[in-house]
Amino acid sequence: DPVEKIAAVGGSRHPNIPLPKDLFGAWRNSEGVDLQDIDILAETVSAVNQTRLPGEGRGRAASGSKLDPGLRRGGSEDLVGRAAAAFPAWSAAPVEDRAAILERLADLLEEHRTELMAYAVKEAYKSLADAVGEVREAADFCRYYAMRAREDLATITLPGPTGERNAMRLEGRGVWATVAPWNFPLAIFLGQCAAALVTGNTVVAKPAPQTPGIAARAVALAHDAGVPEDALILAPGGPEVGAALVADTRVAGVAFTGSTATAKKIARALLDDDARPIVPLIAETGGINAMIVDSTALPEQVVADVLTSAYRSAGQRCSALRLLLLQEEIADGVIEMLSGAMDLLTIGDPADPRTDVGPVIDQTAYDRLMTYRESAKDRWIKTVAAPATGHFVPPTLIRLDDMDSLTSEFFGPILHVATWKAGALADTVARVNAKGYGLTMGLHSRIARSGEVVEAMARVGNLYVNRSMIGAVVGSQPFGGEGLSGTGPKAGGPHYLPRFCAERAVSVDT
Ligand code: SER
Repeated sequence: DPVEKIAAVGGSRHPNIPLPKDLFGAWRNSEGVDLQDIDILAETVSAVNQTRLPGEGRGRAASGSKLDPGLRRGGSEDLVGRAAAAFPAWSAAPVEDRAAILERLADLLEEHRTELMAYAVKEAYKSLADAVGEVREAADFCRYYAMRAREDLATITLPGPTGERNAMRLEGRGVWATVAPWNFPLAIFLGQCAAALVTGNTVVAKPAPQTPGIAARAVALAHDAGVPEDALILAPGGPEVGAALVADTRVAGVAFTGSTATAKKIARALLDDDARPIVPLIAETGGINAMIVDSTALPEQVVADVLTSAYRSAGQRCSALRLLLLQEEIADGVIEMLSGAMDLLTIGDPADPRTDVGPVIDQTAYDRLMTYRESAKDRWIKTVAAPATGHFVPPTLIRLDDMDSLTSEFFGPILHVATWKAGALADTVARVNAKGYGLTMGLHSRIARSGEVVEAMARVGNLYVNRSMIGAVVGSQPFGGEGLSGTGPKAGGPHYLPRFCAERAVSVDT
């Protein structure tokens, strides 16, 4: 049942985040689905049909140049200057006011859920199931950071052995530039903004060029919730807009999610000018994420978790599984089951509730993935049919004779598989670590000691044992990696907000 498929994903959220409305409540209810759900689905599908994207009819906006002029604020306008002027008043407001605004924004996101889901489907080709998760995660970020900010920004009193009064507190740094990806065009886009705003910063926010429409709606809702217009300014456009923002020496910090190469470019640009203050960069990038499976794993569970981790969202999550590492003894059996299961994947229109795998984001992504896939044709283990028109990359399983030979991330529904020999678990983890990325890793094993070994050795931000490797839950699975995968801190975790802040200690002789 397609609606039940969606029911299975509607439920991820942190138990401690107060959620006044049970937005997707019935979807979460394993007892069944009531009419309300079908109404929401139907409403969303009809909203998909009615939503007009920026630039629609003139070809898809591949860069800022095709954006609706309504989204442009004039190339010469000083967005950073406006955000800087808004900073003193916004940062001086009590944290409670800013936290309450974020909570109002979460309410508005939920109220406007069908419209936002429609944008996610239409602009980013999210499946309906993923569109539910997108709105859920965006609202969770707002509520979680509101809750954290009340605690994190409270003044801490420190001991004064010599009679001094010592205290410290966190406060906003100034204007943050945020640069968001297309694959979470609402959740990550707003998560970055929400963290910067609630800590007292103002923000110039650049969405991905592929997804300006949903970002514009999110910013409008933030303004409706009470964020002053100049405290959050949308800067749609392509890489040239991001480069200009990062080059602006008044920017006090950059939060970026995207490719490792762009993160390094930003880091270099931030250090380019000797006179410029040293400012923080929070970067969340990609990974060559591996799942290690030993001979004690339950094959049915492995296959289900591999399908979810590698092919859901057309593999377009930074957390997605790229390299499946099977212990030799079980490899043939697992591959056979997996191949059979791949035949059952439905590939097609993302607005159809039955769809498992939609198209990839654009022609550039499609060409890169298809070229690579074609070049590896002699090592295909399995591929499945996909519609011939549109950017549909057929889910594919590719054999690797040497697990070390995979050195690039392929951001789509392409999974590599290699084997390892009994007794080589530690060596296998070390070889994955040696790739230099450190985002997610999976382990399927029923041996407690193997879990301990992998946990002790894996240099990744998120290790998932006996489950899928995607869909980190705000507040429960803080998300983000290390090495080539990013700088930390983890989004949706307790250490995220302080990185957006300046620390002030005050000592008063009494
Ligand atoms: N946070 C997403 C996930 O866990 C990836 O960006 O799947």
